[in-house]
Amino acid sequence: ETLTAVICGGGNAAHVMTGLASSRENVDIRVLDVFSDEAERWTKTLGADPLVLTVNHPDGSHDEVRGKPNIITNDASKAVPGASVIIFAVPAFAHESYFEAIKPYLKPNITIVGMPGQPGFEFQCFSILRDIAPECCVVAFEGLPWAARISEFGRAVTVLSTKDFLGCVVIKGKSNVGPDPLKPVQYLLGPHPVAQIYQNFLEPTLNTKSIMHPPIMYGTWHEWDGQPLDSKPLFYQGLTAEAADLMSGMSDELIATAKEISRKKPDVNLDGVGHLFDWFKLVYKDEIKDKSSLLTALRTNSAYNGLLHPMKETADGKFLPDFTYRYMTEDVPFGLVVLKGISEIAGVATPVTDKVLAWSQKMIGKEYIVGDKLCGKDVATSRAPQRYGYKTLDDFDILL
Ligand code: NAI
Repeated sequence: ETLTAVICGGGNAAHVMTGLASSRENVDIRVLDVFSDEAERWTKTLGADPLVLTVNHPDGSHDEVRGKPNIITNDASKAVPGASVIIFAVPAFAHESYFEAIKPYLKPNITIVGMPGQPGFEFQCFSILRDIAPECCVVAFEGLPWAARISEFGRAVTVLSTKDFLGCVVIKGKSNVGPDPLKPVQYLLGPHPVAQIYQNFLEPTLNTKSIMHPPIMYGTWHEWDGQPLDSKPLFYQGLTAEAADLMSGMSDELIATAKEISRKKPDVNLDGVGHLFDWFKLVYKDEIKDKSSLLTALRTNSAYNGLLHPMKETADGKFLPDFTYRYMTEDVPFGLVVLKGISEIAGVATPVTDKVLAWSQKMIGKEYIVGDKLCGKDVATSRAPQRYGYKTLDDFDILL
C-alpha cells in the first residue's frame, strides 16, 4: 500500500524531510509550501532532478540520499486530499499558516506531525482545528531530528548530524490510527532518530529548552549602554552568573508547576520533569569540563565553543545586539509565554520567569505580561493557552 504524506515548509528541515521521505519505497510525497513564491521557485529549480541529501556520520563518512517529491505546491487542495500523514517542518511562527491552509481538506484519522512542535503546538492545533483535531492523531516532536543546512535552495541540503533518539507527544484522541501511530512517521524518517513517546504533552513542554536563550540575552544586555561593540560577545562561554541563576530559577518554577499539576490531577504523570542542570549534565557528559554548577557547565561545554551572540553589523563595522533573532522572537512567544500561561493556570507564581519576560517583551516591542499577570495585548499572537480560551487545568483534558 502506498503511504501518502505531505511535508509542509521550504527551509532546512523541509528539505531534509522531503528528501528522506521521497527516497522510501511505496510513497507518494507532496510538498506544501505556502510561503511567498517558494513552491514555484522550488519546482522550477528542481526540474526533473531529485533532491540530494548529503548525510554526515559521526565517523566522518557521509552518504548521499536522493528523492523526488511528486508535487511541490502552495495549494493545499492539491497536496492534502488522500494523505494519511502531514508533517510540519517549519519554525513555530509559521505553524498557524499551515494549520489554516490544511484545515478545509482534513479528514478523520490523518496524523498531523509537528517536527518540531515547540511549546503551545497542541493548544494551537486543537484551537484552529477544533472540529477535526480530536478525530486526528496529533504528534509533536520536541526537537528537529537533525542539524541541517540547505547548500542550494531546492536542490541540495547537508544533514550535519542526526539524533539517535527523539522524544515526542502522541495524542490519539478518537482517531483510528492503529496500535502504532508512529509507524508511518518512523518509516519516512528511517532508522534514526528512534521516536520515543512521552507520557503527555505537558512533560516535554515543562522540560523545554526554550528557557535557555532569553535569560542569557538578559544577562548580557539588560544593563547595556546602547553603544555598538567592536566584536560579537561569546554566547555561552561569556554567560553571566546572573543569567545562569535566572535560568536555574525558571527551571525551578517549571518543576513547581509540574508538581502542582500532578497534585491537582494525580493521573497526569509529570515525574519526568526535571531541572535543566541535570538534563544538561546527562546530555553533554563528555563535553562539559567543569560540572560544578550550571554556570560552569554552560561555560565549559565544548559543544558550545565559539558560539556568538546574534548581532547586526553597523555601517562602520561595529556590532549591535539583534533582538529580532529567534532566541527572542521565537523563544518568547512560543516558549516563555506558553510556560507562564501554564504556570498561571496551575496557580503557581513565577517571579523569575516574570523578570526575564518583562525585559524580553520590552526588547521585542511586545506586551505579554502586565505585572505578574499574563493579560497583555500581545498574548493574542502568542501560543499561550489563555489565547485559545483555556482557563483551568481541566480544560487540558482533551489534550491528555
Ligand atoms: P528555516 O529558517 O530554514 O525556515 C525557513 C522557512 O520557513 C522558509 O524557507 C519558509 O518556508 C518558512 N517561512 C519563513 N517565513 C514564513 C512565513 N512568514 N510564513 C510561512 N512560512 C514561512 O528553519 P529550519 O532550519 O528548517 O528549522 C525549522 C525548525 O527547527 C525551527 O523551529 C528551528 O529552530 C528548529 N531547528 C533547526 C535546526 C537546524 O539545524 N536547521 C536545528 C534544531 C532545531
